[in-house]
Amino acid sequence: MPEAKIAVVISGQGRNLQALIDHCRAGSIEGRIVEVLSNRADAAGLARAAEAGIRTQIVPHQQFATRDAFDSALAAALRHHQPDIVVLAGFMRVLGAAFIDEFHGRLLNIHPSLLPKYPGLKTHERALAAGDAEHGASVHFVTPQVDGGPVAVQGALSVRREDTPQTLAERVMQEVELKIYPQAVAWMARGALRLAGDRVMFEGAPLSKPLSMQNLEPAFR
Ligand code: GRF
Repeated sequence: MPEAKIAVVISGQGRNLQALIDHCRAGSIEGRIVEVLSNRADAAGLARAAEAGIRTQIVPHQQFATRDAFDSALAAALRHHQPDIVVLAGFMRVLGAAFIDEFHGRLLNIHPSLLPKYPGLKTHERALAAGDAEHGASVHFVTPQVDGGPVAVQGALSVRREDTPQTLAERVMQEVELKIYPQAVAWMARGALRLAGDRVMFEGAPLSKPLSMQNLEPAFR
């Protein structure tokens, strides 16, 4: 299989983007990031891409009158590179059905909760308020239902009595997100992970439950 072409779409800091850059560089992801797109010109992640010599493009959502017009511009920018994988990494806009249809099976997102728990925002606050013993993050294929697509990989950690939303968010990022997302992309790039209809397939067989931290390969632990 030729090297996978990966496009990354961001809105903010780009810590997940950085992990993908590092794993592509190390060869643990058999792929190349062909472009980083952002809906915000001030996204700090753009500097990480530039630093790595990756082409960047800004598609500023506020310059489009409708969500559909923004989606079309983003799709056009992506189409240009014919990416095998489109990675939403801290991208803070909801995408419409036409966009999602076009990239069906190639579109991944990471969400900071143990889905189906806590779709939407303020996930760390909500997990703490509910007194959850465990919290984490999920990598899922994107479908029109926001944060509702089939989950491929999920990583959990124990909530500590002294956790605040900030400390919990930081641990979820460092101990879970930055590990499971590059691993999921590596599996996709290698053809080990894919979507068939609405089922996640891993190494040729449908998953009965999401892959977990135990499944991570040494390069991603
Ligand atoms: C992550 O927590 C991700 O799960 C959420 O936004 C944050 C992105 O952080 N959707 P970064 O831009 O990768 O640093």
